[in-house]
Amino acid sequence: MNTKIVSGEWGVEQAALLLHLGGLVALPTETVYGLAGDALNASAVALIFEAKERPAFDPLIVHLPNLEWLDRLTTAAKDPLIAELIRRFWPGPLTLVLPRRSIVPDLVTSGLPTVAVRMSAHPLFRAVLERFGNPVAAPSANRFGRISPTAAEHVLEELGGRIPLILDGGPCAIGVESTVVALDNGGLKLLRAGPVTAEELAAIAPIRAAGPAIQAPGQLESHYAPGTRMRLLANPAEAGAWTGPEKAGLLAWSRREKPPQFSAMEVLTPNNDPREAAARLFAAMRRLDAMSLELIVAEPPPAHGLGVAILDRLRKAAAPR
Ligand code: TXA
Ligand code: MG
Repeated sequence: MNTKIVSGEWGVEQAALLLHLGGLVALPTETVYGLAGDALNASAVALIFEAKERPAFDPLIVHLPNLEWLDRLTTAAKDPLIAELIRRFWPGPLTLVLPRRSIVPDLVTSGLPTVAVRMSAHPLFRAVLERFGNPVAAPSANRFGRISPTAAEHVLEELGGRIPLILDGGPCAIGVESTVVALDNGGLKLLRAGPVTAEELAAIAPIRAAGPAIQAPGQLESHYAPGTRMRLLANPAEAGAWTGPEKAGLLAWSRREKPPQFSAMEVLTPNNDPREAAARLFAAMRRLDAMSLELIVAEPPPAHGLGVAILDRLRKAAAPR
């Protein structure tokens, strides 16, 4: 299959048309690129699992064209806490795991009684959904277990030859996947750390981190992984003293001189700004991964606010496989 990269108004039309026909399209969101198919068409959803080589036990996020769909897909549309979260954070990088209605195909939710829903703020994504009219299921547009794509070229690297169309919206503004929360006895359970921080959520409702049982396969230990082995340092000072025998690259947090024992270095945030780091994280990992290194050594980010989401992605990338 030939994969075309399109953009602009014409690209939006092509994408909406393909969705109507039951096909797949990669679309930009404010977090990462998503691989979208008609959420109410089980054959389109099956194509998503196939293109990503994603195991069927890992459920997908459904992206809504407008708020009317919340009540059509879930039974929690009138829950006051949900209404407040939506008022504060939608459209945007917050995914809500809610009790589902039977209209949602089992394949989307991996048979779970809940469905994950979100509304993207990306203008091109919204334009496609407005034209298409129905919700789309859209996981990140990478092959299973690999680094999420934050640019159209990354999608091509991951899924080129497997999907017909990529809508190019330039680099993603946020760069890490949405925060995922579930309802939990009047409070919230944080299933995946993301751009909407635990601090922001705690201002609205009591929040618990998910327990040891795997609630979201995004919490699987090894995830978001480059091909090159990765190691996460406990504190940034260790990088200067690094003495591994391997040909290693340094994924540095902020601006610094490259320690001579590293053969390459990527700086996540020259301006020491977690938002800048998040936006550059996955592209920097991809660049180091392409350099035939034996090891990527990552400095840890500050563990608060958006730093928590970045730390989570680095931990998963460095987890044993
Ligand atoms: O920012 C994002 O969320 C991106 C863009 C494309 O929207 N999407 C994304 O999708 O990251 P994906 O499939 O890579 O991650 C979805 C996460 C997975 O960890 C999945 O296990 C979890 O959401 N999830 C989906 N449905 C769930 C459910 N019913 N219960 C618990 N977790 C669920
Ligand atoms: Mg993913």
